[in-house]
Amino acid sequence: MDEVARLHFLQDKLRRYNQEYHELDAPTIPDAEYDALYRELVALEARYPDQVGTDSPTQRVGSLELRRNVRLVRHREPMLSLNNGFGFQDLQEFDRRVRTGLGVDEVAYCCEPKFDGLAINLLYREGVLVQGATRGDGEKGEEVTANLMTVKSIPRRMRGSEPWPEWLEVRGEVLMLKKDFERLNERQTRAGERTFVNPRNAAAGALRQLDPAETARRPLVFLAYGVGGGSPEFELPDHQDGLLRWLGTLGFPVAEEVQVVRGESGLRAFFENLSARRASLPYEVDGVVYKVNARIDQQKLGFVTRAPRFALAHKFPAEEALSTVEAIEVQVGRTGTLTPVAHLRPVFVGGVTVTRATLHNDEEIRRKDIRVGDQVWVRRAGDVIPEVVRVVRELRPAGTTAFEMPLTCPVCGSPARRLPEEVSWRCSGGLHCPAQRKQALLHFAGRRAMNVDGLGEKLVDALVERAWVREPADLYRLTLEQWASLPRMARKSAENLVQSLERSKETTLARFLFALGIRQVGERTAHDLALHFVTLEAVMEADETHLQAVADVGPVVAQSLRDFFSAERNRQIIAHLRAQGVHWHENVQESQAVQILAGLTFVLTGTLAHYSREEARNRIEQAGGKVVGSVTRSTHYLVVGRDPGSKVAQARKLDIPVLDEDQWDQLFKEIKA
Ligand code: IVH
Repeated sequence: MDEVARLHFLQDKLRRYNQEYHELDAPTIPDAEYDALYRELVALEARYPDQVGTDSPTQRVGSLELRRNVRLVRHREPMLSLNNGFGFQDLQEFDRRVRTGLGVDEVAYCCEPKFDGLAINLLYREGVLVQGATRGDGEKGEEVTANLMTVKSIPRRMRGSEPWPEWLEVRGEVLMLKKDFERLNERQTRAGERTFVNPRNAAAGALRQLDPAETARRPLVFLAYGVGGGSPEFELPDHQDGLLRWLGTLGFPVAEEVQVVRGESGLRAFFENLSARRASLPYEVDGVVYKVNARIDQQKLGFVTRAPRFALAHKFPAEEALSTVEAIEVQVGRTGTLTPVAHLRPVFVGGVTVTRATLHNDEEIRRKDIRVGDQVWVRRAGDVIPEVVRVVRELRPAGTTAFEMPLTCPVCGSPARRLPEEVSWRCSGGLHCPAQRKQALLHFAGRRAMNVDGLGEKLVDALVERAWVREPADLYRLTLEQWASLPRMARKSAENLVQSLERSKETTLARFLFALGIRQVGERTAHDLALHFVTLEAVMEADETHLQAVADVGPVVAQSLRDFFSAERNRQIIAHLRAQGVHWHENVQESQAVQILAGLTFVLTGTLAHYSREEARNRIEQAGGKVVGSVTRSTHYLVVGRDPGSKVAQARKLDIPVLDEDQWDQLFKEIKA
């Protein structure tokens, strides 16, 4: 038999097996044999695509593999699919086709999230749920009424009052909320059972449980997006958005995000808006669906084969993709935390190319059993840092070994330690460790710490490698010549840096405390400590009980402060900085000023005579105020310098006080007095 004949032979055979299996409930071959023949057919069809035809068993629309022992029911109105679009060009073409088809200039669309769950058809008779089914192959689906009855958000009886349609098919998706999915997986892990890759799979698993009681244990929700068939005499709302609202009044949950927009620009805006909110939605969406809003226009446009002309599914870029772990590198953070990072074969996921993913800590690596050489699913959702979700164990090459955390710091060789209550290992080298030293210096110089302009990563690397800087105070000891001799450092930049360093010496206690990089002490805590203790000596001498008198300082933070200040080396670091001239005003007035500006919002415009933008901003922020970019009703003051912009007019319109530089200065004096 030649290959083409074999292909047709297999198509016929599999069609018959399907019929035996689904319709006669009397299969004649085992599943595995069916699967093998099916795979052979897929391979042959790939070689002879013109022989596939629409009635090949491989061409069924089914999203779910139909199983044995299930009852199939025919949908009254077939469940069709949507045409997919992947970029703005597809969107533009869709809108153009719709406009041409309707002969109009602009179209109103109903925009909806594209839920990433399972399509469901619910049949109601006189307002009572009588049958629920999956989409199946679009014509016939699996009957899952008992399982759907356990889904709380599916009304068993429509809300409101009669008349209800004699019969109506309500359509939508069954989903698992992200938070419920995480909880389910935790439960599965604890019970030693398999976990699910994503909420969609978990929802499919839940719905297809043979025992409805098991479905009930897995939290599912339903969201309606339309209707299928309905008794012809019953009049439905004439627009898609109205239809959804009507379904809402009958007790069906519909997505809050639904919105009617006009034209292509409206579609685009909706897409961008939902893309930005995707990560924070409670459920997974894999795109948006645009539908011509007027149902009469939908009918005019009609269908092409299996999808409507009046709708488009605009898909988001895939958030998960398969890649290979090429290496696992251990990085050292500012406080010495050893963080394993996977180097990946570059993979396009969530709209960007990803080459690395944090593996968090060795406990996490062990839990997921991630090894060098493994094929892994990489996920990047929204702006979230890429992560490795799961290893494909079936594809693991021979000879891999489990990852072992190094016993010493990969940068300085000091022993790695782990405190009993922590998950992370740390390098014990402190500021002896060049990696920690670099991070500590970058933090020290940061905008919210000492605010030294122009001290970036490359420069810090050069300083530490030359051993010119071992502790922060060394920064102030370098000469202009030394700075200027560093690679890619122009004389002018060196001068600016020295000036910026000089300026940074005048600071506040809060900034100084934050700049020290004490573990657990963020900007807020540093600020609260400064306010409470007023002098550095008081903070350094305070015992844990006193420290805990400060808001948000609990035993862990207090302990960390004690540890830091009792180490001789740290006391020296502080002494050296003060010897270099780092200082701040230690008086109550100064600290209280912080509170007095709190709650006031400023906008800056034009060039000030005595302050750069950055300095002006710092001055306001140090006093507890906030600086924002544009004038709105909630702005308290607009500060204007030379050549102000349109903000002045805006402020006058909104009746917001406009201050010149002197008046602004005065404000500080008034507050201090
Ligand atoms: S309308 C005639 N609206 O996408 C088409 N479908 O490819 C009727 N889906 O499995 C579908 N969210 O279950 C529509 N807001 C939405 C949707 C949506 C998800 C699914 C649908 C079907 C697939 C269509």
